[in-house]
Amino acid sequence: MISSVLVLLVSFLCHYVNAGLTCPRPQEIPFSTVVPLKLNYEPGEKILYVCKPGYVSQWGTRRYTCSLNGMWPTSSMKCLPRVCPFAGILENGAVSYTSFQYPNSVNFTCNKGFYLNGTASAKCMEDGKWNPPLPMCSPITCPPPSIPNFATLKLYKPSVENSSHVQDTAVFDCLPHYAMFGNDTVSCTEHGNWTELPECREVKCPFPTRPDNGFVNYPASPVIYYKDKATYGCHETYVLDGPKEVECGKFGTWSASPTCKASCKIPVKKATVLYKGEKVNIQDKFKNGILHGEIISFFCKNKERKCSYTVDAQCLNGNIEIPTCFKEHSSWAFWKTDAADKEPC
Ligand SMILES: *[C@@H]1O[C@H](CO)[C@@H](O)[C@H](O)[C@H]1NC(C)=O
Ligand SMILES: *[C@@H]1O[C@H](CO)[C@@H](O)[C@H](O)[C@H]1NC(C)=O
Ligand SMILES: *[C@@H]1O[C@H](CO)[C@@H](O)[C@H](O)[C@H]1NC(C)=O
Ligand SMILES: *[C@@H]1O[C@H](CO)[C@@H](O)[C@H](O)[C@H]1NC(C)=O
Ligand SMILES: *[C@@H]1O[C@H](CO)[C@@H](O)[C@H](O)[C@H]1NC(C)=O
Repeated sequence: MISSVLVLLVSFLCHYVNAGLTCPRPQEIPFSTVVPLKLNYEPGEKILYVCKPGYVSQWGTRRYTCSLNGMWPTSSMKCLPRVCPFAGILENGAVSYTSFQYPNSVNFTCNKGFYLNGTASAKCMEDGKWNPPLPMCSPITCPPPSIPNFATLKLYKPSVENSSHVQDTAVFDCLPHYAMFGNDTVSCTEHGNWTELPECREVKCPFPTRPDNGFVNYPASPVIYYKDKATYGCHETYVLDGPKEVECGKFGTWSASPTCKASCKIPVKKATVLYKGEKVNIQDKFKNGILHGEIISFFCKNKERKCSYTVDAQCLNGNIEIPTCFKEHSSWAFWKTDAADKEPC
């Protein structure tokens, strides 16, 4: 009887002690898993903390054993994210990032004149490597420019082997007789091509027409081309109105069409006038008239104030208007004072 009670008590105690001394579910450590994972463990049972992909263990052991008193040893272990190689500097470009740890991404941009050889973004992967691999900023270059028809390269110097950098320029010339339409200068763009090429077109001008009372000289060739020149002149007493030399322009027209303008006979026999700031006698100075465009000033009287003033008259292609206030002296009215001799008003 006693023995049976004892057996019962001992077995109860044993059960109690055994039940009380199992270890609970182990402490959670961020970014790790426990193998094996159970609700409780017998003393002596072992577990292993395994860091999740992309994380590595640091500080302390990963293996723990359930102790006889039913407790896990305290753990200082941590699972820290992997760190990818430094990627904070991109030559000729810029990097934006928060960190180089798994699972972060960094972004890349290139400076002006460079293009991204690679992708604009890379991610730090579980294995601690960048994916895709880090890019480079390579200089943008243009191949040699193509040469428009009827043009020549006047200025071109490749800055790298047979190619040009962004903003490098090339300058074209047209062959003789050809005129340029568009910009003679092209530059290497950010797209790796050149700005729009100019065009060279053959340009002819009509023969210049001879002006009345004058002449024109031009090349003795069957065709007059762009930039050819013609020179004009007038017969005696006629004055050229326009430039002496004209040029065949890019639109097939002459830069000007000069004409010859007639000189003027002055319908006054005798008078003192002002010519280029000097007093001269018409009868001496302008016997043969006055050339087109020239100006003389006649003297008029102000009777009340007994003084004189001047009024201009210009010869315009054979016509000159004598101011109405001007009074020509009869040659015998010697007692009258000429207006030119009076005090200016
Ligand atoms: C990278 O670019 C993406 C898309 O533009 C953006 O959402 C992200 O915030 C950028 N990351 C950084 C670190 O700048
Ligand atoms: C672009 O990058 C690849 C790989 O990094 C490299 O082999 C190639 O030479 C680069 N291209 C230029 C034009 O720099
Ligand atoms: C540059 O151009 C010349 C002539 O076209 C050619 O012979 C040479 O191989 C080119 N060099 C390179 C690096 O492309
Ligand atoms: C011609 O092109 C050059 C460079 O491409 C530019 O600097 C210049 O202003 C242009 N000239 C004209 C008249 O458009
Ligand atoms: C240069 O390339 C860009 C982009 O492909 C295009 O938009 C542009 O029209 C090109 N320029 C010329 C002059 O062809």
